[in-house]
Amino acid sequence: MLRFKELTITMFDITPHLTKWYAIISYAALVYAISTFIKIKLFVRKNGCKEPIKLLDCGPLSIPLLVKMLRMKSEGTFLDYAESLFVNLATSTFYLRLCGVRVILTKDPENTKAILATQFNDFALGVRHKHFLPLLGDGIFTLDGEGWKQSRTMLRPQFAREQVAHVQSLEPHLQVFAQHIRNAKGDTIDLQNLFFKLTVDTATEFLFGESVHSLVDDSVTSTFAIEQWEGKDKFAESFNVAQAYLSSRAYSQMFYFLINPKEFRESCKDVHLFAKHYVNKALAATPEELEAKSKGGYIFLYELVKQTRNPKMLQDQLLNIMIAGRDTTAGLLSFTFFELARNPEIAAKLRAEILQHFGEGTPEDIPSITFESLKKCEYLKWVLNEALRLYPSVPVNFRVATKTTTLPRGGGKDGNSPVYVGKGTTVAYAVYATHRDPEYYGKDADVFRPERWEDAKRLGWAYVPFNGGPRICLGQQFALTEASYIIVRLLQMFPVLESKDDRPYPPRKSVQLTMCHQDGIFVLMT
Ligand code: HEM
Repeated sequence: MLRFKELTITMFDITPHLTKWYAIISYAALVYAISTFIKIKLFVRKNGCKEPIKLLDCGPLSIPLLVKMLRMKSEGTFLDYAESLFVNLATSTFYLRLCGVRVILTKDPENTKAILATQFNDFALGVRHKHFLPLLGDGIFTLDGEGWKQSRTMLRPQFAREQVAHVQSLEPHLQVFAQHIRNAKGDTIDLQNLFFKLTVDTATEFLFGESVHSLVDDSVTSTFAIEQWEGKDKFAESFNVAQAYLSSRAYSQMFYFLINPKEFRESCKDVHLFAKHYVNKALAATPEELEAKSKGGYIFLYELVKQTRNPKMLQDQLLNIMIAGRDTTAGLLSFTFFELARNPEIAAKLRAEILQHFGEGTPEDIPSITFESLKKCEYLKWVLNEALRLYPSVPVNFRVATKTTTLPRGGGKDGNSPVYVGKGTTVAYAVYATHRDPEYYGKDADVFRPERWEDAKRLGWAYVPFNGGPRICLGQQFALTEASYIIVRLLQMFPVLESKDDRPYPPRKSVQLTMCHQDGIFVLMT
């Protein structure tokens, strides 16, 4: 072992070397910084880029702003605050520095188009895959590049028209749903809570071939033959818990790995157990058995098994679709009923259209409600368009630049010049703010007015509730058909719909992976 004297001598001996290395490294860093600076300047000049407006007064390292945003997120006012930033800065694109890192925010449809379509290959999901890996593995919703392409090619045929047309399989679940409303006997109910249960029930049936029947409890009667096995009951709750953690991981960006508590890991385990049970069952079935099972209605898993027999791939893709499709549909239904309950004239007009097309909802009327006939209900379409405009399920979305590139607009004082986007920069596109922009929707952009869709000019990228470009939502038709059927049946069954919500408008919104009402949809229905 070195003694103190020897150690000091050794240190003095290496100091000149250290100084030399320090000088070399500093010199290399300086050369790198200067060459990067020159490269950026040349790129900026070549592309005519100008700086967008910067959000100032964010505090040291923007940490006070971050704290403020997190507080608003938990209070349900974050989205309206984000929208107000665009208004107050009088711009459609601005940037800020979060902990020193440049983040660009835009509500400009031209930029959204570039990110999602015309410059698709310049942007990717970034670290989403790592955020969601413990629950979702490798699937369409989390992958970029080749993996995403393969997933999309494999899954797209499952969303063909015939597959999304099976609305009648919703009816038994709706009957249970309706019993909960009737059981309230005119008291206030929280429709959102029921919609979340309904969509987990219908999604599990469609994806796995067997519903979790979370709506079925002692207060209702049902005709379902419910198969019980250990672990099945945990699925719905575990899926909700795991999803809440995924959202926290996503908001923590590069610090996602800090959010990995036991509760999260256990919930993922429960969800995987559920998925594995059905995947194994499907893999063990003969082709004849699969065919026979599919006769009762379309089952996603059984069709997918014809394309791949890899159990992990099957599990991951099913859970990816579950996450993409379940809460989005529940959110759409919740906000639609929230607005219908507040706007009796709109609800009455919609109900009149429904009765005209489908009658009062007698057992003989029900078979007439099909994919095709729902498409002919013009006012219903406008109502759904308007609900998705004011309450897009994914209100703010992100992409990360895969290479140094530009956004077409937002630079300079007038906001008309291209914007420099360095490789690795996060760009957030705020669909919520675009959808409420008076430039595209007029002075009453904040008002729920389905009639605006009667003469809506071509809105293009100013209306993107389902995204656009190569990653456009695969379940768009599926979701609209399911939501339409549920709205038709509920308005047939319950002529009275009253809001029991005296909280201020606009409503507080909870933004997790998708958006829903922060407090619930409190209504009276009879
Ligand atoms: C109101 C209902 C829905 C809305 C508003 C909605 C919206 C969206 C949006 C905005 C995206 C893009 C996410 C991103 O790229 O970051 C997306 C993707 C996707 N959605 Fe939907 N969605 C809905 C329902 C559904 C349903 C019911 C399904 C399936 C049953 C589904 C399946 C998918 C899939 C698979 C993707 C990933 C597509 C890809 O990355 O290639 N969605 N959806």
